[in-house]
Amino acid sequence: MNVLLIGGGGREHALAWALSASPLLSRLHCAPGNPGIAEVATLAAIDVADHAAVIAYCRDHQITFVVVGPEAPLVAGLADDLNAAGIRVFGPSKAAAQLEGSKGFTKDLCREFSIPTAAYERFTAPEPAKDYIRRVGAPIVVKADGLAAGKGVVVAMTLGEALDAVDMMVSGGMGEAGAAVVVEAFMTGEEASFFALCDGETALALATAQDHKRVGDGDTGPNTGGMGAYSPAPVMTEAMVERTMAEIIRPTLAAMRARGTPFSGVLFAGLMITAEGPKLIEYNCRFGDPECQVLMMRLKDDLLTLLLGAVDGQLRTMSARWYDDVALTVVMAANGYPGAPEKGTLIRGVERARALAGVEVFHAGTVLKDGDLVANGGRVLTVTASGATVTEAQARAYAAVDLIDWPGGFCRRDIGWQAVAREKAAGDHH
Ligand code: AMP
Ligand code: GLY
Repeated sequence: MNVLLIGGGGREHALAWALSASPLLSRLHCAPGNPGIAEVATLAAIDVADHAAVIAYCRDHQITFVVVGPEAPLVAGLADDLNAAGIRVFGPSKAAAQLEGSKGFTKDLCREFSIPTAAYERFTAPEPAKDYIRRVGAPIVVKADGLAAGKGVVVAMTLGEALDAVDMMVSGGMGEAGAAVVVEAFMTGEEASFFALCDGETALALATAQDHKRVGDGDTGPNTGGMGAYSPAPVMTEAMVERTMAEIIRPTLAAMRARGTPFSGVLFAGLMITAEGPKLIEYNCRFGDPECQVLMMRLKDDLLTLLLGAVDGQLRTMSARWYDDVALTVVMAANGYPGAPEKGTLIRGVERARALAGVEVFHAGTVLKDGDLVANGGRVLTVTASGATVTEAQARAYAAVDLIDWPGGFCRRDIGWQAVAREKAAGDHH
């Protein structure tokens, strides 16, 4: 079968890498893709916001299955338009993608169906939001309702910060996304990312991951799209996974079905593991980036078979198997990120790095210029390694990072630090 993958970041390179190994695949295409993806796929020069152009490309290239990587095309209804054209697609409908597209939508769903999450209220005007904040007090969390590329959340430790966040969002500082806000209670605990494949009716637990959202070592500095991740998340024990499935994921699928908007695709739950158990921070309707990179390193089964199972409603009879090895990924970002990243700087040594055992280098924001690989985005490479322990995977990933010669970029040097510390404490104990 010929498959079209939509997207061009590190997540999509990891998906392309896994899809290209499938015995079911004839030819993989990718729009827009990147130079790493180009090694395993034909790049399609189409505008993915132009759904008619995507459909025409599929018809011209006998593509019968489309896999959508990022959220924006899903929220824009690409899956609906492909389905209407008779092309199978992995990724939720526009209505189901509201789980990511509107935080207020998801919070209301949680309230209606008793899914554990932080207490909250929704607002479209600043004064009522501020009154509520003054009443509840800090710490408190202010979120833009719509898609904001990971920048729509202010965890306010003081009342002043929270009030300023409301002003910033409602006054248009976040564009459309901030026209409505959710104000919610501050939760404490350990965060984890949980992924479940869904076919509208059945959810199949995939794997867990932990990411590092802050730009600086020790989890300091501004938030980013993610500077690194590892899988599995030690906090997600088997019992915690089962509670998450029973208390959060399955009720969500049932609720979406009851509303007439069943969810098919991958449900990415951002969780806070609190003293009372797992609570939902937010949903995404797609794989995480860079969490996808570590998931794909650990996946033993054929990805294309699993994604088709989700689309065809076959998950009840399927399972997903994972390597026991830990996978860890380090994001290399262009200087300036998460502000304005420097573009066009020369990158050398990627081939040397990926030649190391147990290492894959996934391209995120790269482009070829006169035969040279240069930076073309904020997050540029995701250097991914597996190992028997987090400590080993981390050592391998950084050995690979150190073979990459790129003065125009930087990375965190401590991805996985909590888990490495845990392993060290356990080792000292024995
Ligand atoms: P989100 O974009 O909703 O995942 O939020 C980004 C980050 O803000 C999360 O990964 C958490 O670290 C933090 N956060 C969001 N909501 C809460 C909350 N209710 N309590 C504490 N931290 C939160
Ligand atoms: N790394 C977080 C995300 O993909 O949303």
